[in-house]
Amino acid sequence: MARSARFWPVVLLGAAVCALAACERVAPIPQAPSETVFTTAHRTIGDAFNEFFGRRAEPVQPIEFPHDIHIEKGMTCTDSCHEAAVDGPVAGLPSVAMCMTCHEAIATDRPRIKTIAEAYAAKGLDLPWQRVYGFSQSAHVKFNHAPHIRAEVDCATCHGDVAKGTVARRTVDHTMGFCVGCHREKNAPNDCMTCHF
Ligand code: HEC
Ligand code: HEC
Ligand code: HEC
Ligand code: HEC
Repeated sequence: MARSARFWPVVLLGAAVCALAACERVAPIPQAPSETVFTTAHRTIGDAFNEFFGRRAEPVQPIEFPHDIHIEKGMTCTDSCHEAAVDGPVAGLPSVAMCMTCHEAIATDRPRIKTIAEAYAAKGLDLPWQRVYGFSQSAHVKFNHAPHIRAEVDCATCHGDVAKGTVARRTVDHTMGFCVGCHREKNAPNDCMTCHF
């Protein structure tokens, strides 16, 4: 954790900029070279400051995706949308091509489906899904879905009952206490380097 030390000057500078700019979005800056471990980077310095001060904006998705309708129709979370969660660190977000395997033919007259088809698929653009969860880079957290799925921890434990909702919202706080508490309970590894780099 000693490496966090070099982030403090950035944070202090951030506080100063925030005081001046009221934490409005600042122009995007190039990201620091990424680590080899999977981690969430901030797109803008403004995002980083907002997060540091606990002000995470509710993400706005390209379309309001109804999770509930798709689960009712028999799809599961790991069918073709977040299948990477089963054997890797990242759950993944579905491509527009995946949506079109059905929506080429299903509900083509609805406004949201028209948007997907016309504003994205037809132009060769992917849906710019926004992240709902993730950690600030300064927390140096590493996470891996696969061991949790193997240990049969439900998606809902960490993400709430997305299957019953429409657009994914941040309903569970991924604090250190949340992680460590369950690790203690289930005898999962709990030394600092399990979750930090
Ligand atoms: C396995 C087939 C399938 C896939 C894949 C699929 N959908 Fe659907 N989707 C459906 C069905 C079935 C409905 C319900 C249609 C109805 O109401 O008749 C639906 C409904 C919707 C609706 C609601 C339409 C409305 O306004 O009534 C939206 C929005 C939507 N899907 C978006 C998406 C997006 C975005 C993706 C890709 C991430 C996707 N779907 C992938 C089958 C699918
Ligand atoms: C033990 C807790 C835990 C479980 C269980 C879990 N996740 Fe996650 N999930 C996380 C964390 C933490 C992140 C953020 C990871 C990061 O940014 O490093 C995340 C990120 C995601 C994301 C990326 C989207 C976003 O908004 O960040 C998706 C999609 C996702 N999870 C889906 C699933 C699905 C589907 C399941 C079940 C098959 C599942 N997760 C099970 C903790 C969990
Ligand atoms: C509901 C219980 C639960 C929660 C919540 C949870 N974990 Fe876990 N975690 C587990 C279990 C069980 C394992 C699997 C241990 C094993 O394979 O022996 C695991 C494994 C891991 C591993 C792999 C450890 C290794 O070296 O094999 C990492 C990394 C991890 N968790 C990080 C996190 C982080 C970060 C969070 C919080 C965002 C979190 N976990 C939340 C139960 C949980
Ligand atoms: C099971 C996973 C897990 C373990 C084990 C763990 N942490 Fe954490 N830790 C986290 C998560 C997740 C966060 C981020 C919480 C957040 O962003 O709100 C965090 C945040 C922190 C932070 C705050 C960083 C920041 O800048 O926000 C410190 C410091 C920290 N951990 C130190 C430790 C130390 C020291 C240990 C060992 C005694 C440890 N952690 C063990 C998951 C873990």
